[in-house]
Amino acid sequence: MAVRRFDLEAGGDTFEFASETEGKISFWLAKYPEDRKRSAVIPLLWLAQKDNGGWLSEPAMREVAERLEMPYIRVYEVATFYTMFRLQPVGKFHVQLCGTTPCMLRGANDLKEICQNKIGKAFQVNESGRLSWEEVECLGACVNGAMVQINDYYYEDLTSDTFAEIIDKLENGVEVEPGNFVTRQRSAPEGDAITLIDSALFDGSVPAGISALPNAPSELPESDLQPLGAKTAKVKKAKTVKAEKKAADAAVEATAELPEETDDKKRPEVVAAPAKGEADDLEAIKGVGPVLVKKLNSLGVFYFEQIAAWGEPEMAWIDEYLSFKGRVARERWIPQAQELAEKKKS
Ligand code: FES
Repeated sequence: MAVRRFDLEAGGDTFEFASETEGKISFWLAKYPEDRKRSAVIPLLWLAQKDNGGWLSEPAMREVAERLEMPYIRVYEVATFYTMFRLQPVGKFHVQLCGTTPCMLRGANDLKEICQNKIGKAFQVNESGRLSWEEVECLGACVNGAMVQINDYYYEDLTSDTFAEIIDKLENGVEVEPGNFVTRQRSAPEGDAITLIDSALFDGSVPAGISALPNAPSELPESDLQPLGAKTAKVKKAKTVKAEKKAADAAVEATAELPEETDDKKRPEVVAAPAKGEADDLEAIKGVGPVLVKKLNSLGVFYFEQIAAWGEPEMAWIDEYLSFKGRVARERWIPQAQELAEKKKS
């Protein structure tokens, strides 16, 4: 862990919270009795950091101390203890690189070299003002190491190549979605599931993610509520879906013959090919990629309603046809299709 130095000069002499932050401050203060309001020091420092370009200047800390009627030194102690608080100006994108043992064993030192080569020294903002970095202790995502946090988001399962690409993109103004950068769902093993693959035991459903921060002020704008919740879930989902689609497509390419129909396996009902542009976008179903859409279309499946109407036998037939070993159930194609069909009606 690098030594963090407080920049007493860079912050000037004054700091003011943005007017739109006042509501959030009141929200946090309301959580504690008047004579215990110093308990809100961490959220208020966090808000101050947000309003101060991503770091805490000395006047910003004094303002927090004043608001909470606590000695400045106590605020300073908190701010210097937690690496979530930055004590020097940072770039538009501040990289916190985990250098603790699990991440180190998975290549954190290589990522560190990339930071040094592409950004410069730790704690220094690069020439364009877009990037800065520091090494921090475990960020609690060890199973997805090597990993970094960039601003509010985690970028996981990184290699030198993927990390270098992320840094280049951010430097060049290209947005990079956070999440994991290998084919795995969250912290599950890479590739397809190897346990709980019996749909009778587990339907494969995955929670959609947190829809809002717990304890967050309800008046927070959507964008502020999203980082740990919907947005993260959405971008993670998008990344996972992309990887899963690729794997699914590869499996589909490899299949050929139509399975035999039995009592437990039934070929789904088919419809005639619709006019061009009239079929539903089946790619909206998580786990369905373009190759799979082609395959479904060639079987006579074009609409959400068709998939929504499948029962166990149809699902088993499709599963066998696509060699998916229960994937249709795990990815919840049918409930997804039911939802999409409902949306289509409204
Ligand atoms: S060791 Fe890197 S996140 Fe825990």
